[in-house]
Formats: sequence, C-alpha cells, structure tokens
Amino acid sequence: MRHARSLRSAGVEWVPVGSLFETEKSQQQSTAAAPAIVENPVPPAAALEERRLALDVLREEVKGCTACSELCSTRTQTVFGDGPIGAEICFLGEAPGADEDAQGIPFVGAAGQLLNKIIAAMGLKREEVYICNILKCRPPGNRTPLPNEAANCRAFLDRQLELIAPKYIVALGGCAATNLLQTNKPIGQLRGKFHDYKGIPVVATYHPAYLLPHRSPDKKREVWEDMKMLLTKMGRPIPQKPS
Ligand code: URA
Repeated sequence: MRHARSLRSAGVEWVPVGSLFETEKSQQQSTAAAPAIVENPVPPAAALEERRLALDVLREEVKGCTACSELCSTRTQTVFGDGPIGAEICFLGEAPGADEDAQGIPFVGAAGQLLNKIIAAMGLKREEVYICNILKCRPPGNRTPLPNEAANCRAFLDRQLELIAPKYIVALGGCAATNLLQTNKPIGQLRGKFHDYKGIPVVATYHPAYLLPHRSPDKKREVWEDMKMLLTKMGRPIPQKPS
C-alpha cells in the first residue's frame, strides 16, 4: 500500500507491479510444452524498465524513512544498494559503516575491498552483482542492528529483493543470515549448506569484516568453500584458489 502511494505521489499512474513477474512466468509456462530451449528467459526490456522505475521509487521511500529515530537522526544518508536489476547474485550485508554512510554506496570500506576480492576470485565483476544490507542506515559506532531496526527495514529489503530478483543470495555474516532467514542459529552452523528465501537459494558465510587481518583471516578458507559450493550450483567454473 505504501509503495502504491509512493508510486502515485511520484506521478506513476500505472505500474503493473504484480504483473512484472507474470510476464516471465507466462513465458515460462508457454514454453513448458515446447522443447526446453531457455530455462530462464531474459525479461523483456519493458518489464526491466518497470522494475527500474519501481526500484527508484523504493530508493526515494528509503531516503525519506524516519522509522528508527536514532538512525535517521545520526545518518549522513541512506545506503540503498548497488548493482544491476536482474543480477544473478545478491550479496547481503549487515548495515552501512562509516565509509558507506559517507559515500552512500554499500561495501566501499575495508570490508568492501575484501568483498571485491571475493567477487573477483569467483570470476565475477562487482558491476554484475547486486550488493545491499539488512539496514539502510548506519548504526552509530557500527553497533549491531537492533531487532526493531531490522524489522523496520524488512519491508524495504523484501521489496528490493523482489525487484532485483537475484537467482542466488549470499548472506554475509550472522546478522544478515539470521535476519534474512529468520533463525537464531550461529553463522558457523548456517554456513556450508543452502537455505531458502522465497524460493531463492541462500548461502550464508562469514562477513568480510571478520576476515580482515586483525580478526580471523584463517576463516577465508571456509568462505572460499562456500563460494565454490555456490559456483558449482550455478554451473560456473571454479577459478584457481585465491591467495
Ligand atoms: N559492512 C556491511 O555489512 N555492509 C556494508 O555496506 C559495509 C560494511
């Protein structure tokens, strides 16, 4: 409803958001009886354009959000997400840190540099994946997001993921994994297998910040195991082990 109101106030009178994915579904259905040629048809340009428009509206809605009084009074700006609609993988982190709050882009600080290396080691480019966080505002002093803050931001995240429509999600760290999957299991128990978010396979792994030299760089090995598990499911080649 809130989205519908935003669309209207943004001057959008007709956005068949509910049907955005019907186009894809009906294409899949219509090819069901025919020989299987394309498993995941590329959405028509018009559907992509509608999703882009809806994502822009959502971004504006996030910008104006005042649901968490502490966060909205201390943030420099909201940090929505980075990457293309339809990205095959979405990397989901916890919340913006100081660098992200300053630049308005997720994962641009030290943890972001390490995430970039992980993405490159997988044989991917940062520009082709989507990156976002559980929270769109920086918690002061980088404290862990509070449950009510994660709950306030949840509808934004669900909608964002619906519009990006990734085929796989990588939850980075315990905060991202437990919030996305609504579990309280520790990350050590969640990693190493696939989970499900609305039909999308989810890999949970350690947060890049945890892998930094002053913390637990030895855990990089497990993260690489998790990424290899994902690449195998995606049917992609596994590059040589990164140094
Ligand atoms: N850590 C996160 O979880 N997200 C960011 O965007 C940056 C650091």
